[in-house]
Amino acid sequence: MDALPPRIQGLVVTSEGDRTRMQLQEIPSEQLPPGDVVIRVAYSSINYKDALATQGHPGIVKRLPHVPGIDAAGIVERSQDARYRPGDQVIVTGYDLGQGRWGAWAELISVPADWIVPLPSGLDLREAMILGTAGFTAAQCVLALQRNEVTPGDGRLVVTGATGGVGSLSVRILAQLGYEVAAVTGKAHLADRLRSAGAVEILDREAVADASDRPMLSARWAGGVDCVGGRPLMTLLRSTKYGGAVAACGLVAGAELHMTVYPFLLRGVSLCGVASADCPYARRVKIWQLLAGEWKPRDLADFWVTEIGLEQVPTYVDRMLQGKADGRIIVRLPGAPAAS
Ligand SMILES: NC(=O)c1ccc[n+]([C@@H]2O[C@H](COP(=O)([O-])OP(=O)(O)OC[C@H]3O[C@@H](n4cnc5c(N)ncnc54)[C@H](OP(=O)(O)O)[C@@H]3O)[C@@H](O)[C@H]2O)c1
Repeated sequence: MDALPPRIQGLVVTSEGDRTRMQLQEIPSEQLPPGDVVIRVAYSSINYKDALATQGHPGIVKRLPHVPGIDAAGIVERSQDARYRPGDQVIVTGYDLGQGRWGAWAELISVPADWIVPLPSGLDLREAMILGTAGFTAAQCVLALQRNEVTPGDGRLVVTGATGGVGSLSVRILAQLGYEVAAVTGKAHLADRLRSAGAVEILDREAVADASDRPMLSARWAGGVDCVGGRPLMTLLRSTKYGGAVAACGLVAGAELHMTVYPFLLRGVSLCGVASADCPYARRVKIWQLLAGEWKPRDLADFWVTEIGLEQVPTYVDRMLQGKADGRIIVRLPGAPAAS
């Protein structure tokens, strides 16, 4: 078996008193965790969970020092598992990557073979990371609406946190599937961007910030994708029409839900939880196939993406934590193939 390079570049989060610090540094590759397969990362991305990991969030990071990065697309460097051979192009998203196990903001990752999804035909490594956990989660939200029989004919859907990674990809996938989508955003200046992603209506966050304690609001939406939680999620659930469904995946606006059960009992509204990290393997592969095929966003290679190097990650993490990031931010590593 080929030896690994003695050192790799990576972003390492360390503790400094009661704060954390993230620095680009050389990591001895012998410090990589044990794993069946070592992958040379070509692209990673920044997700909200990664941004929290840089702060040492105890619900995400088990111990410091830590290398964040919950998304990886890359090339197998060495493998002790018969399913993978050096040179294979693969994706790893979720599980414990970038959480309990060092993640993809480094040149190499070492992971259990069971976490790996072969890159489906129809996607290249860069496109896979434009999607990443955000696209995977958006697809799960759309599947949840479909499972609840929400169809394009039922009326307009609403997507909150629409300029974010999950939000923008939800808007695009829903629009491509023929749904009418209203996009809720705090960034009015990005309205044109949202329209080109497929939104037919742009709403300010205030439109879904009902602070009354009314058990139900006038029925307005056939359903929605909520990326933010808190008051917007409470507003969506209370203003969804009879038989509609809301897929909930995020918490940037709050983790609490204070409301009555009346929308569920009187309108048959469904609240669908979406949890992508531990999505079972067979389902995971099917979702990636959908994303590489029928559901692949048109012009994915140019879809609302900012491409950066490892050294720029701290700046973009700060933007995300301040709610100022938009679209997808992908991280190109030195292992990215020249042609992709
Ligand atoms: N359940 C899962 O499996 C799963 C998977 C992936 C992500 N997530 C969660 O989904 C959410 C979005 O993730 P992401 O990676 O797409 O993050 P992101 O790119 O930072 O997007 C979040 C968006 O939410 C909006 N926002 C930010 N702060 C807000 C606030 N205080 N109130 C209301 N809206 C606010 C912003 O959009 P606008 O300016 O357009 O409003 C922002 O772009 C996060 O909570 C993340 O943890 C969950």
